[in-house]
Amino acid sequence: MELLLLIILITTTETVDRNTIEYFQKHQCYLKDVLASIHHSPNQLAVNRRTNSLYFSSDVDGEYVPVMLDIDSKDLRLIKGVKDAYAIASNNIDDEIYFGGSNGIHRYKPVDKTLTSLAITNLDIWWLYFKKNIYFIQFPHLNVYVYKDRTIKVVRQLKNTQVNQFVFDREGYIFFVNVSGLYGVKKFSHEHVLLRAKPQFLGMASDNKGAVFVSSDSAIYVVNKTDQKVKRVVRVPGVMAMAFDKENHLIYSDGQELVRLLAVTETSEDGDTFFCN
Ligand SMILES: *[C@@H]1O[C@H](CO)[C@@H](O)[C@H](O)[C@H]1NC(C)=O
Ligand SMILES: *[C@@H]1O[C@H](CO)[C@@H](O)[C@H](O)[C@H]1NC(C)=O
Repeated sequence: MELLLLIILITTTETVDRNTIEYFQKHQCYLKDVLASIHHSPNQLAVNRRTNSLYFSSDVDGEYVPVMLDIDSKDLRLIKGVKDAYAIASNNIDDEIYFGGSNGIHRYKPVDKTLTSLAITNLDIWWLYFKKNIYFIQFPHLNVYVYKDRTIKVVRQLKNTQVNQFVFDREGYIFFVNVSGLYGVKKFSHEHVLLRAKPQFLGMASDNKGAVFVSSDSAIYVVNKTDQKVKRVVRVPGVMAMAFDKENHLIYSDGQELVRLLAVTETSEDGDTFFCN
C-alpha cells in the first residue's frame, strides 16, 4: 500500500507557545511542525475540531483515498468506502466530514464511522465548503451550487462565473479565486470586487474565526476586507491547501509535507524549522 510512504515525522514542540496565532503581528516567527510526509499535495484539507483530526486525500494508484490524521498523536488512518475524495470539507457544528469527487458527495460521521451518499449523481466535484449547508464547485464548468433540502441550487451571487475555490468569511462575504484573480462579494451583492489579479492564488481557506487566507507560489496571505489588502503572513513556497486545527493553528500542504505552524516567541539557532514574517 502506497500509504506506507506517508512517513510520520515526530518533532519536539516543548518550546512552543501554544497561544492563538496572531497573524497580523509583525516579526512573528513560526515553528514548523511536520505532521506527515506526502508525495503529492491534496487539493483540500479539513479539520474536525472535536477530535482535532485532519482529513486529506492521498493518491493511491490514481484514486484520491481519504485519510484521517490525528493531529496530536500523528497517527494516520484510511477511510474506507470513498474512492475519489478530491474535495473535502468539515461541518464542525454537526460533527461531519464531506468528501467529493467523480462519484458525487459523501457524508462521513466520525463518531460512528458511517458514510452516506448525498442525492448528487453524475456530477464531478472539484471543491467543497460547508456553511449551514454543503456548497460545491462542479467540474469542469467550475460553477458553484449549494445542496439544500435534498436539491441542488445555483448560488446566484456567483452565477455564470468560473470559480476555482471559494470561502465565506465571518460576516458571510464570499471570497473566491479564479484564473483572473482574487475577488470579494459582499452579502446580498452581486458585484465581484477584484482584490488582486496577481499573484496566481493556488489555495484558499477560512480560519476558525472566519478570516480568509490565500496561498501563492511563494507565500501565504491573509485578506483584510476593510482596506482590501492582501497581507503576507509567511513566506512558504508551493502551498496548495490549508486548514486550521482546533486551536486555530494554520496547517498547510505543499508537494512534500503536511505542516502545522506554531507561533513561537523565541528564535532558534536552527533556521530551517522557523518561518518569520
Ligand atoms: C473570474 O471572475 C471574474 C469575476 O466574476 C470574471 O470577471 C472573470 O471572467 C472570471 N475569470 C474567468 C477565467 O472565468
Ligand atoms: C484592516 O484594515 C483596517 C483599515 O486599514 C485596519 O483598521 C484594521 O486594523 C485591519 N485589520 C487587521 C486585522 O489588520
